[in-house]
Amino acid sequence: MKNIRNILCIGAGYVGGPTMAVIADRCPEYRVTVVDIDPERIRAWNSPRLPIYEPGLQEVVERCRGRNLFYSTDIPAGVREADVIFVSVNTPTKTFGHGAGRAADLQFVERTAREIVEYAQEGKIVVEKSTLPVRTAQALSRVLQANGKGLRFPIVSNPEFLAEGTAIQDLTFPDRVLIGGTDDPEGQEAVETIAQIYTHWIPREKLVTTNLWSSELTKLVANAFLAQRISSINSISALCEKTGANVDQVSQAVGMDSRIGPKFLQAGIGFGGSCFRKDILNLAYLCEHYGLPEVAQYWESVVDINDYQARRFVEKILEAMFNTVTEKKLAILGFAFKANTGDVRDTPALAVCQRLLAERATLAICDPKALDNARKELGDAGGRVTYHQDPYQACQDAHAILLLTDWPLFQTLDYPKILQGLPRPAFLFDGRNCLDHKALFEMGYNVYPTGSPPWTHFL
Ligand code: UDX
Ligand code: UDX
Repeated sequence: MKNIRNILCIGAGYVGGPTMAVIADRCPEYRVTVVDIDPERIRAWNSPRLPIYEPGLQEVVERCRGRNLFYSTDIPAGVREADVIFVSVNTPTKTFGHGAGRAADLQFVERTAREIVEYAQEGKIVVEKSTLPVRTAQALSRVLQANGKGLRFPIVSNPEFLAEGTAIQDLTFPDRVLIGGTDDPEGQEAVETIAQIYTHWIPREKLVTTNLWSSELTKLVANAFLAQRISSINSISALCEKTGANVDQVSQAVGMDSRIGPKFLQAGIGFGGSCFRKDILNLAYLCEHYGLPEVAQYWESVVDINDYQARRFVEKILEAMFNTVTEKKLAILGFAFKANTGDVRDTPALAVCQRLLAERATLAICDPKALDNARKELGDAGGRVTYHQDPYQACQDAHAILLLTDWPLFQTLDYPKILQGLPRPAFLFDGRNCLDHKALFEMGYNVYPTGSPPWTHFL
C-alpha cells in the first residue's frame, strides 16, 4: 500500500466536486486538488456561489477550501504533484458517427489520459470515477502505459453511486464503496491504496473489492436496475388509470414484500438525470457489440417506457383540456429532473415542455433552483416561455397547473389562494403524484393524478 499525500481530481462537476469535498473533509492529512478545463467552473468553486446546488455542500467546501481543498485550472501542476488521480470528466452519449445516440463518447476520458501521460514525471494510480463502458480501463491503460518514459500507471475502477440532492449524505454514509483492480500485485496494491482513503470514515465491511470489469459493469447494472423499477411502476400507472386501481396503493403493497422493497417505486413522468438513460443505452450497445441483441432489446425497453410516460402525460393534458392548449397559459411547477437539485440534464420536464410548445401553449416555469439551467435549455421560445421564482406569479391566470418536479415547496402552496386567480374550469395535473388529490378536488380543481383516475367536476 502506497502512502498518499496529494490527491488530484480531473473534472469539477456534480460527481468530482462533492466527492472531493467529502474526501478533503474526512482526510485532513491529504491535500486534495480539483482541476477542470472550464475556468468559469473553477472560478465558481472558489467563490461564495458554487457552480452546483447540493444540500450541505457549501458547508463542507467552506470548511476545507484553502485548508486542504483547492480548485485550479493548472492541470500540469496538478498531475505532477499527485500521488493518486481521480478521473471524473463527463462521458456523454455520442451524438455523431458510429454508435451515435447510444455509445458513450470517450473523447474526454482519452484526452485526460493523454494529459496525465504528458505531465507526469513519475507513475501514479489512476482512478476511474466517471461511469464508463465495460473494458474502458483497458483502453485507458493502453494510452497510459504507452508513455515512453517507462512510468507505470495502475488503474482502479471506483464508481460513484451518489444521487444528486443527497450527494453529501450518500458520500458520508454509502451503502458500499466499490473498488476494482487488476489481479496482479500492482493492481492489488493500488486497490489497497484507494481503500485506505475510504477507511477514514467508512467501515471496512462496506468496501467491496472486485476485478476491474466487474466494477465497471456493476455501475451500469445498478443504474439499469434502478431505472427499470421506475419504468416498471410507470407502466403499471398507465394500467391503473384505465382500471381504477391506484398506483400508490399498488406500489406500497408490492414494496412491502421484503424481496422487492419499497424504494424507487414512485410513479411519475419518468426518470431524468445525467445517468440513467445514458447508462442503459450504453449497456444495450455493449450487449449488441457482444452479439446479445435480445438482452440489448430488454434493457432498451426500459428507456422506451420512460419516453412513453412523458408522451402519455402530454396526451392526457390535451385530452382533458378539450384537445387544445394553443395560446393557453400553463404553469409549470418544477423543471429540475428531481427535487433538491438545479440540474436539468435529461429532465423529463424538458420533453413535456417541448411537446407543449409544439402545441403552441404559453409556459410559465417556476423552479426553486433550476431556472438558470431551464432558461439555457428552452430560451424564451419567441416570448412563449417566462420564468418565475414565485410560484404564485407563475400560476396567476393559468389554464392549468402542471407539477413536474417533486419539490417539497409545491406540496405546501396555498392552493385555495391560487385557485382564485385561475380561469374555470381549473385543471391540475400532478406529474409526480405528490399532492393531496382529494383535497384539491374538494377545493374546486379538476385533478389528474398519475396512476389513478381523475377527480373531476364534469358531469
Ligand atoms: C458524472 C459522471 O462522472 C459521469 O460518469 C456521468 O456519466 C455523468 O455524470 P458529472 O460530474 O455529473 O459527471 O459531469 P459534469 O458535471 O459535466 O462534470 C464534468 C466536468 O469535467 C466538467 O466540469 C468539465 O468541464 C470537466 N472536463 C471535461 C474536464 O475537466 N476535462 C475534459 O477533458 C472534459
Ligand atoms: C442516479 C443513481 O440513483 C445514483 O446511484 C447514480 O450514481 C447516479 O444516477 P440521480 O440520477 O442523481 O442518481 O437521481 P435518482 O434519485 O436516482 O433519480 C433519478 C430519476 O428518477 C429522477 O428523475 C427521479 O425523479 C426519478 N425517480 C426516482 C422516479 O421517477 N421514481 C422513483 O421512485 C425514484
